[in-house]
Amino acid sequence: MKTIEVAMLGLGTVGSGVIDILKHSKEKISQITDTEFKVSKVLVRNIDKYRSLYPDLNLTTDFEQISQDQDIEVVIEVMGGLHPAKEYISELLRQGCTVITANKDLVASFGPELMAIANEHQGRLFYEASVAGGIPILRVLNQNYVGDQIKQISGIVNGTSNYILTQMADNNWSYEQALSEAQKLGFAEADPTNDVSGKDAAYKLIILGRLAFGINLKLNQIKRIGITEINQKELAVIKKFDYTLKLIAKLETQNSTYYPVVMPMLVPENSMLGQTKNEFNGIEIESYAIGKSFYYGPGAGKLPTANSVINDLVAAVKNEAPFKTDWNSTSASVKDIFTRQYW
Ligand code: NDP
Ligand code: HSE
Repeated sequence: MKTIEVAMLGLGTVGSGVIDILKHSKEKISQITDTEFKVSKVLVRNIDKYRSLYPDLNLTTDFEQISQDQDIEVVIEVMGGLHPAKEYISELLRQGCTVITANKDLVASFGPELMAIANEHQGRLFYEASVAGGIPILRVLNQNYVGDQIKQISGIVNGTSNYILTQMADNNWSYEQALSEAQKLGFAEADPTNDVSGKDAAYKLIILGRLAFGINLKLNQIKRIGITEINQKELAVIKKFDYTLKLIAKLETQNSTYYPVVMPMLVPENSMLGQTKNEFNGIEIESYAIGKSFYYGPGAGKLPTANSVINDLVAAVKNEAPFKTDWNSTSASVKDIFTRQYW
């Protein structure tokens, strides 16, 4: 059995979940992969916050202790934010390291650039956990739609906003109460602005667009409306008509033009999207060969997200190739969805 040294950047909600799974499923993981994973260093900002909880971990605030350690083969980035995550990951990929990240802001904003660095230096970048938490949606898109033609991908891809809308509609909670609870449960980003403004969902739509269509949307091409203006009274009226309001991210294509949008939409209460509640995500893919498929599961939270990180770790030791995203060579025409003709 071989041993692989792993370092982590971040030990918050997702990072602690990764440590938890590596500990509790240690035997099963090593039996299946024939590998023992040793977490040799963990980067945080405030060591005192973690020292008593993790007396066995080698905690550091100095990134160079990780980047200059030649024995570390895999680095798991679960610290979030664009900077310094981008600089750290770029440096690691330049050294030929395998990097696993849950950071959708980063993958959406700099994915192609980071992939190019990885390809040039024999590094690898895995990022299943960056979209839809515990649902392995990126691997499904990468592996199971190769011969198919996707027409549309749409659904709920932000757990925090879905948790807020669910609690406001079903339990009459205020927006502030629901947001505060989502933060306590670890679903929200460190700064929840992106969750409630639709920006987090737009980042995820960019990543989904690369895998579903091979196109590279820019953030400013996605029309975006968040959930901050929605109130309990509106939700109560909608409920009386057996509908519910969901923050939907949608990307459809017609005649080689792509129409992206993120906005609250009405869905029937008894539909699959209507029944996707709390932090759960639900993604519908409509394609030529399969028709309609629906992927459902926890879209945020410690263990579901950490499980996706572990799946990437296993894929890395099995020498699976990172996701292929640049296969559509035609330059995409992207238009506002409100200009789309439905007849
Ligand atoms: P947390 O805020 O819970 O944890 C962040 C961790 O990173 C903390 O340990 C923090 O250390 C450390 N950290 C942050 N910035 C730095 C820095 N500059 N230098 C060193 N350490 C740093 O975040 P989450 O675990 O919730 O999220 C991590 C990533 O996973 C994000 O990209 C997020 O978008 C993504 N994600 C999160 C999900 C969730 O459900 N929470 C689901 C899917 C993806 P310290 O405490 O000392 O500041
Ligand atoms: N804050 C994100 C959400 C985490 O609520 O969906 C999962 O990406």
